[in-house]
Amino acid sequence: MFSNNPFAELSLLIPSIYQQVFTILMILLVIIGTSLDIIHKKNVKYFFANAKKAKQQAKKTLNQSQKTKVILKTVTNEILTTSELGLGKRRIAHLLGMYGTILFWITSIIMIFLYPLPTYNTPILYTFLWHIGALMTCLGGYWFWFFLRVDVAAEANPWYRLVQADLFVLALVLTASFALAWSFFQFLNFNTLELIFLLLFLISNIFLFGGVYWSKFAHMFYKPGAAIQRNLAEADGSRDNLPEPADKPKQFGLGIKREAPKHY
Ligand code: HEM
Repeated sequence: MFSNNPFAELSLLIPSIYQQVFTILMILLVIIGTSLDIIHKKNVKYFFANAKKAKQQAKKTLNQSQKTKVILKTVTNEILTTSELGLGKRRIAHLLGMYGTILFWITSIIMIFLYPLPTYNTPILYTFLWHIGALMTCLGGYWFWFFLRVDVAAEANPWYRLVQADLFVLALVLTASFALAWSFFQFLNFNTLELIFLLLFLISNIFLFGGVYWSKFAHMFYKPGAAIQRNLAEADGSRDNLPEPADKPKQFGLGIKREAPKHY
Protein backbone atom coordinates (compact mmCIF):
# COMPACT_ATOMS: atom_id res chain seq x y z
CA MET A 1 0.00 0.00 0.00
CA PHE A 2 2.83 2.41 0.84
CA SER A 3 4.16 2.09 -2.72
CA ASN A 4 0.72 2.81 -4.21
CA ASN A 5 0.10 6.13 -6.02
CA PRO A 6 -3.69 6.29 -5.62
CA PHE A 7 -4.01 9.25 -8.01
CA ALA A 8 -2.34 7.34 -10.87
CA GLU A 9 -4.64 4.35 -10.29
CA LEU A 10 -7.61 6.71 -10.16
CA SER A 11 -6.70 8.05 -13.61
CA LEU A 12 -8.17 4.82 -15.04
CA LEU A 13 -11.54 6.03 -13.74
CA ILE A 14 -11.18 9.83 -13.61
CA PRO A 15 -8.73 11.28 -16.18
CA SER A 16 -5.77 13.00 -14.54
CA ILE A 17 -6.66 16.37 -16.08
CA TYR A 18 -9.81 16.46 -13.90
CA GLN A 19 -7.72 15.68 -10.83
CA GLN A 20 -5.33 18.50 -11.75
CA VAL A 21 -8.19 20.96 -12.29
CA PHE A 22 -9.67 19.93 -8.91
CA THR A 23 -6.31 20.58 -7.20
CA ILE A 24 -5.99 24.02 -8.81
CA LEU A 25 -9.56 24.82 -7.74
CA MET A 26 -8.69 23.89 -4.14
CA ILE A 27 -5.66 26.23 -4.23
CA LEU A 28 -7.88 29.01 -5.62
CA LEU A 29 -10.39 28.39 -2.82
CA VAL A 30 -7.61 28.92 -0.25
CA ILE A 31 -6.57 32.19 -1.91
CA ILE A 32 -10.18 33.44 -2.15
CA GLY A 33 -11.05 32.30 1.41
CA THR A 34 -7.97 33.93 2.92
CA SER A 35 -8.51 37.16 0.97
CA LEU A 36 -12.17 37.36 2.09
CA ASP A 37 -11.07 36.65 5.68
CA ILE A 38 -8.50 39.45 5.48
CA ILE A 39 -11.11 41.88 4.13
CA HIS A 40 -13.70 40.84 6.71
CA LYS A 41 -11.45 40.86 9.78
CA LYS A 42 -9.38 43.83 8.58
CA ASN A 43 -6.47 42.10 10.32
CA VAL A 44 -3.86 42.85 7.66
CA LYS A 45 -4.99 46.50 7.59
CA TYR A 46 -4.60 46.62 11.40
CA PHE A 47 -1.29 44.76 11.13
CA PHE A 48 0.24 47.37 8.79
CA ALA A 49 -1.24 50.30 10.69
CA ASN A 50 0.26 48.88 13.88
CA ALA A 51 3.62 48.24 12.20
CA LYS A 52 3.64 51.86 10.96
CA LYS A 53 2.78 53.18 14.43
CA ALA A 54 5.46 50.97 15.99
CA LYS A 55 8.02 52.25 13.47
CA GLN A 56 7.50 55.77 14.79
CA GLN A 57 8.28 54.52 18.30
CA ALA A 58 11.39 52.65 17.13
CA LYS A 59 14.51 53.41 19.11
CA LYS A 60 16.80 52.37 16.25
CA THR A 61 16.45 51.80 12.51
CA LEU A 62 17.26 48.29 11.39
CA ASN A 63 19.15 47.93 8.12
CA GLN A 64 18.25 45.23 5.58
CA SER A 65 20.78 42.71 6.87
CA GLN A 66 19.63 43.14 10.50
CA LYS A 67 16.01 42.71 9.39
CA THR A 68 16.90 39.59 7.38
CA LYS A 69 18.71 38.17 10.41
CA VAL A 70 15.65 38.72 12.64
CA ILE A 71 13.34 37.19 10.02
CA LEU A 72 15.57 34.12 9.50
CA LYS A 73 15.88 33.59 13.25
CA THR A 74 12.10 33.82 13.63
CA VAL A 75 11.60 31.28 10.84
CA THR A 76 14.11 28.76 12.20
CA ASN A 77 13.55 29.22 15.95
CA GLU A 78 9.83 29.94 16.08
CA ILE A 79 7.82 29.23 12.94
CA LEU A 80 9.35 25.92 11.85
CA THR A 81 9.27 24.61 15.41
CA THR A 82 6.01 26.32 16.54
CA SER A 83 7.87 27.25 19.71
CA GLU A 84 5.00 29.41 20.96
CA LEU A 85 3.31 26.18 22.01
CA GLY A 86 5.94 25.55 24.71
CA LEU A 87 7.66 22.24 25.28
CA GLY A 88 4.76 19.91 25.99
CA LYS A 89 2.32 17.58 24.24
CA ARG A 90 0.54 20.48 22.52
CA ARG A 91 3.67 21.31 20.55
CA ILE A 92 4.49 17.68 19.63
CA ALA A 93 0.90 17.15 18.42
CA HIS A 94 1.06 20.35 16.39
CA LEU A 95 4.42 19.50 14.84
CA LEU A 96 3.13 16.05 13.85
CA GLY A 97 0.03 17.57 12.27
CA MET A 98 1.85 20.45 10.61
CA TYR A 99 4.70 18.49 9.06
CA GLY A 100 2.38 15.58 8.24
CA THR A 101 0.08 17.94 6.35
CA ILE A 102 2.96 19.64 4.55
CA LEU A 103 4.32 16.24 3.42
CA PHE A 104 0.86 15.09 2.40
CA TRP A 105 0.09 18.23 0.35
CA ILE A 106 3.48 18.46 -1.36
CA THR A 107 3.56 14.77 -2.34
CA SER A 108 -0.09 14.97 -3.49
CA ILE A 109 0.83 17.80 -5.86
CA ILE A 110 3.94 15.96 -7.09
CA MET A 111 1.98 12.77 -7.77
CA ILE A 112 -1.04 14.48 -9.35
CA PHE A 113 1.01 16.68 -11.69
CA LEU A 114 4.24 14.73 -12.32
CA TYR A 115 3.18 11.07 -12.03
CA PRO A 116 -0.48 11.11 -13.10
CA LEU A 117 -0.57 7.70 -14.86
CA PRO A 118 0.28 4.14 -13.69
CA THR A 119 2.81 3.89 -16.56
CA TYR A 120 4.89 6.73 -15.03
CA ASN A 121 6.24 4.50 -12.21
CA THR A 122 6.02 6.90 -9.27
CA PRO A 123 9.18 6.77 -7.10
CA ILE A 124 8.39 4.97 -3.85
CA LEU A 125 9.76 7.94 -1.88
CA TYR A 126 6.72 10.05 -2.86
CA THR A 127 4.09 7.37 -2.27
CA PHE A 128 5.72 6.48 1.06
CA LEU A 129 5.89 10.11 2.24
CA TRP A 130 2.27 10.67 1.15
CA HIS A 131 1.06 7.83 3.41
CA ILE A 132 3.42 8.80 6.25
CA GLY A 133 2.27 12.44 5.98
CA ALA A 134 -1.38 11.35 6.25
CA LEU A 135 -0.57 9.10 9.23
CA MET A 136 1.30 11.92 11.01
CA THR A 137 -1.63 14.29 10.39
CA CYS A 138 -4.03 11.73 11.90
CA LEU A 139 -1.79 11.12 14.90
CA GLY A 140 -1.28 14.83 15.71
CA GLY A 141 -4.84 15.81 14.76
CA TYR A 142 -6.70 13.11 16.71
CA TRP A 143 -4.43 13.58 19.71
CA PHE A 144 -5.32 17.27 19.67
CA TRP A 145 -9.01 16.60 18.98
CA PHE A 146 -9.60 13.99 21.68
CA PHE A 147 -7.27 15.19 24.45
CA LEU A 148 -5.67 18.59 23.97
CA ARG A 149 -8.39 20.90 22.70
CA VAL A 150 -8.87 23.67 25.26
CA ASP A 151 -12.62 23.16 25.58
CA VAL A 152 -12.04 19.43 26.26
CA ALA A 153 -8.80 19.58 28.29
CA ALA A 154 -9.56 22.66 30.39
CA GLU A 155 -13.31 23.24 30.21
CA ALA A 156 -14.40 19.62 30.56
CA ASN A 157 -16.62 19.64 27.49
CA PRO A 158 -17.11 16.21 25.88
CA TRP A 159 -14.91 15.49 22.83
CA TYR A 160 -17.97 15.11 20.58
CA ARG A 161 -19.22 18.67 21.19
CA LEU A 162 -18.82 20.51 17.87
CA VAL A 163 -18.41 24.23 17.34
CA GLN A 164 -17.49 26.19 14.21
CA ALA A 165 -13.88 26.54 15.40
CA ASP A 166 -13.51 22.76 14.98
CA LEU A 167 -14.09 22.93 11.24
CA PHE A 168 -10.40 23.20 10.41
CA VAL A 169 -8.98 20.44 12.60
CA LEU A 170 -11.86 18.07 11.81
CA ALA A 171 -11.71 18.62 8.04
CA LEU A 172 -7.93 18.18 8.20
CA VAL A 173 -7.94 14.85 10.05
CA LEU A 174 -10.88 13.51 8.09
CA THR A 175 -9.17 14.33 4.78
CA ALA A 176 -6.05 12.43 5.89
CA SER A 177 -8.11 9.51 7.28
CA PHE A 178 -10.26 9.16 4.15
CA ALA A 179 -7.14 9.38 1.95
CA LEU A 180 -5.57 6.46 3.83
CA ALA A 181 -8.76 4.40 3.69
CA TRP A 182 -9.17 5.15 -0.04
CA SER A 183 -5.59 4.07 -0.80
CA PHE A 184 -5.99 0.95 1.38
CA PHE A 185 -9.16 -0.28 -0.33
CA GLN A 186 -7.80 0.61 -3.75
CA PHE A 187 -4.73 -1.49 -2.98
CA LEU A 188 -6.97 -4.42 -1.92
CA ASN A 189 -9.16 -3.96 -5.03
CA PHE A 190 -12.32 -3.52 -2.91
CA ASN A 191 -13.97 -1.34 -5.52
CA THR A 192 -17.11 -0.26 -3.63
CA LEU A 193 -15.26 0.77 -0.48
CA GLU A 194 -12.59 2.45 -2.60
CA LEU A 195 -15.27 4.59 -4.28
CA ILE A 196 -17.01 5.42 -1.00
CA PHE A 197 -13.76 6.64 0.59
CA LEU A 198 -12.77 8.48 -2.58
CA LEU A 199 -16.07 10.37 -2.41
CA LEU A 200 -15.55 11.12 1.29
CA PHE A 201 -11.98 12.27 0.54
CA LEU A 202 -13.27 14.69 -2.12
CA ILE A 203 -16.03 16.05 0.12
CA SER A 204 -13.68 16.57 3.09
CA ASN A 205 -11.23 18.40 0.80
CA ILE A 206 -14.02 20.74 -0.29
CA PHE A 207 -14.84 21.43 3.37
CA LEU A 208 -11.17 21.95 4.25
CA PHE A 209 -10.25 24.26 1.38
CA GLY A 210 -13.69 25.75 0.78
CA GLY A 211 -14.13 26.53 4.49
CA VAL A 212 -11.08 28.77 4.90
CA TYR A 213 -13.25 31.86 5.47
CA TRP A 214 -15.08 30.18 8.37
CA SER A 215 -12.25 28.09 9.81
CA LYS A 216 -8.83 28.50 11.43
CA PHE A 217 -7.06 27.47 8.23
CA ALA A 218 -5.49 30.89 7.62
CA HIS A 219 -3.63 30.84 10.96
CA MET A 220 -0.82 29.12 9.07
CA PHE A 221 -0.28 32.41 7.20
CA TYR A 222 -1.12 34.87 9.99
CA LYS A 223 0.94 33.30 12.78
CA PRO A 224 4.30 33.50 10.93
CA GLY A 225 3.56 37.12 9.90
CA ALA A 226 2.71 38.12 13.47
CA ALA A 227 5.83 36.38 14.87
CA ILE A 228 8.09 38.20 12.40
CA GLN A 229 6.48 41.57 13.19
CA ARG A 230 6.75 40.95 16.96
CA ASN A 231 10.47 40.16 16.72
CA LEU A 232 11.19 43.11 14.43
CA ALA A 233 9.42 45.36 16.95
CA GLU A 234 11.54 43.84 19.72
CA ALA A 235 14.75 44.40 17.74
CA ASP A 236 14.03 48.04 16.84
CA GLY A 237 12.95 48.83 20.40
CA SER A 238 9.38 49.85 19.51
CA ARG A 239 8.04 46.75 21.35
CA ASP A 240 4.60 47.10 19.72
CA ASN A 241 4.06 50.17 21.88
CA LEU A 242 4.22 48.03 25.02
CA PRO A 243 6.32 48.86 28.10
CA GLU A 244 9.48 46.90 28.82
CA PRO A 245 9.13 44.04 31.31
CA ALA A 246 9.93 45.15 34.86
CA ASP A 247 13.37 44.16 36.07
CA LYS A 248 12.01 42.61 39.27
CA PRO A 249 11.58 39.04 40.56
CA LYS A 250 8.25 37.42 39.67
CA GLN A 251 5.86 37.47 42.63
CA PHE A 252 2.60 35.65 42.06
CA GLY A 253 2.04 34.31 45.58
CA LEU A 254 1.79 30.63 46.49
CA GLY A 255 -1.59 30.20 44.79
CA ILE A 256 0.07 29.85 41.41
CA LYS A 257 1.69 26.58 42.50
CA ARG A 258 -1.59 24.90 43.41
CA GLU A 259 -2.56 23.89 39.88
CA ALA A 260 -0.82 23.86 36.52
CA PRO A 261 -2.23 26.75 34.46
CA LYS A 262 -4.73 25.39 31.95
CA HIS A 263 -7.79 27.65 32.24
CA TYR A 264 -7.17 29.75 29.18
C1 HEM B 1 0.62 23.36 7.39
C2 HEM B 1 0.71 24.17 8.42
C3 HEM B 1 -0.12 24.04 9.67
C4 HEM B 1 -1.09 23.14 10.00
C5 HEM B 1 -1.65 21.98 9.19
C6 HEM B 1 -1.57 23.50 11.32
C7 HEM B 1 -2.54 22.81 12.01
C8 HEM B 1 -3.10 23.26 13.18
C9 HEM B 1 -4.26 22.68 13.82
C10 HEM B 1 -5.06 21.50 13.30
C11 HEM B 1 -4.51 23.39 14.93
C12 HEM B 1 -5.66 23.20 15.92
C13 HEM B 1 -6.73 24.20 15.57
C14 HEM B 1 -7.80 24.32 16.61
O1 HEM B 1 -7.60 25.03 17.60
O2 HEM B 1 -8.85 23.72 16.40
C15 HEM B 1 -3.51 24.41 15.04
C16 HEM B 1 -3.42 25.33 16.07
C17 HEM B 1 -2.38 26.16 16.25
N1 HEM B 1 -1.37 26.43 15.34
FE1 HEM B 1 -1.11 25.51 13.56
N2 HEM B 1 -0.88 24.60 11.76
C18 HEM B 1 0.02 24.95 10.79
C19 HEM B 1 0.90 25.99 10.84
C20 HEM B 1 1.16 26.75 11.96
C21 HEM B 1 2.21 27.71 12.09
C22 HEM B 1 3.21 28.05 10.98
C23 HEM B 1 2.13 28.23 13.35
C24 HEM B 1 2.96 29.26 14.06
C25 HEM B 1 3.99 29.85 13.60
C26 HEM B 1 1.02 27.60 14.02
C27 HEM B 1 0.61 27.85 15.30
C28 HEM B 1 -0.51 27.33 15.90
C29 HEM B 1 -0.98 27.68 17.24
C30 HEM B 1 -0.33 28.63 18.21
C31 HEM B 1 -2.15 26.95 17.45
C32 HEM B 1 -3.03 26.92 18.71
C33 HEM B 1 -2.68 25.62 19.40
C34 HEM B 1 -3.51 25.22 20.57
O3 HEM B 1 -4.58 25.79 20.82
O4 HEM B 1 -3.08 24.25 21.22
N3 HEM B 1 0.45 26.70 13.14
N4 HEM B 1 -2.67 24.32 13.97
